[in-house]
Amino acid sequence: MIHVTTETKFIGLLGYPLKQSHSSLMQNRAFAELGLNYIYVPIEVTKEDLAAVVKGMVKMNYAGFNITKPHKLNIMKYVDELDALAKIIGAVNTVTIQEGRLKGYNTDGTGFVRSLEKEKGFSVENKNVFILGGGGASQAIATACAYKGAGNIYLSNRTPEKALALARDINLHVRDCSVAFTMGSSEMKEALNKADLFINTTSVGMTPHTEETPLEAALLHKNMLVCDVIYNPLKTRLLREAEQAGCETLNGLGMLLYQGAEAFTLWTGRKAPVEIMSEVLHHAAKGLNK
Ligand code: ATR
Repeated sequence: MIHVTTETKFIGLLGYPLKQSHSSLMQNRAFAELGLNYIYVPIEVTKEDLAAVVKGMVKMNYAGFNITKPHKLNIMKYVDELDALAKIIGAVNTVTIQEGRLKGYNTDGTGFVRSLEKEKGFSVENKNVFILGGGGASQAIATACAYKGAGNIYLSNRTPEKALALARDINLHVRDCSVAFTMGSSEMKEALNKADLFINTTSVGMTPHTEETPLEAALLHKNMLVCDVIYNPLKTRLLREAEQAGCETLNGLGMLLYQGAEAFTLWTGRKAPVEIMSEVLHHAAKGLNK
């Protein structure tokens, strides 16, 4: 049990509403593992109160915070500086506070890319990456893949305008490597055929809708690694069908782990104890997936 004193550094998690937080379990265990006098505290904050809460944190012992829905865009107004990748993504999930100055980062996309490297030995460099979805997760992952040298990035989304806008942004601000396709079109199917990596960033297939899948099983082929950002359930219908098609698969727990590990290092300057963090997440996920 941590002995909380005036020296204790606080790390917040700001969002609304906040459900049971895996991040809190994972980060507090990581602080304890390294004997750091830090504590991670989830705080439900409404849009109206965000500015006041952040101002208060700067005056308290906060060394930073994670920020989640619905504040990932809004928080950019309140930081003094934005990391280059967060600026391009246009969203922040991690903030550091040093000598009263706030700096915003986005570790979601780089966390995903790192989980591919660490858990699958897969580098996105020069690979064809197909990303389904056009929301916040897609934005972060697609931008990080472009940043890390993906060959081509193919995007499709239920609302096509969002995929188009994202492809345009990536081509303009990172590299000219991204193209959007209409869902179900023959061009989309051709792009899928060429893909080395497929990533579902939509919520389709998440509990309680576990019988839904975002992609027809017939479009899966064994030459692609199939990833789902969902971790509840741990094995979505998409991943089950991908396995049957002979594909390697990866669920969303690795992204949650490595976005947290990168944030941990930003706050503490220390290498994150990823093994113990992973154990905590797997244990918590088992509870969720009962
Ligand atoms: P996140 O931050 O997790 O990415 P989000 O920004 O709300 O969440 O994005 C959710 C994504 O899931 C979007 O791409 C959304 O499609 P739209 O942009 O058309 O809304 C996608 N999505 C959610 N439900 C879907 C469904 N039933 N079929 C297809 N796509 C769906």
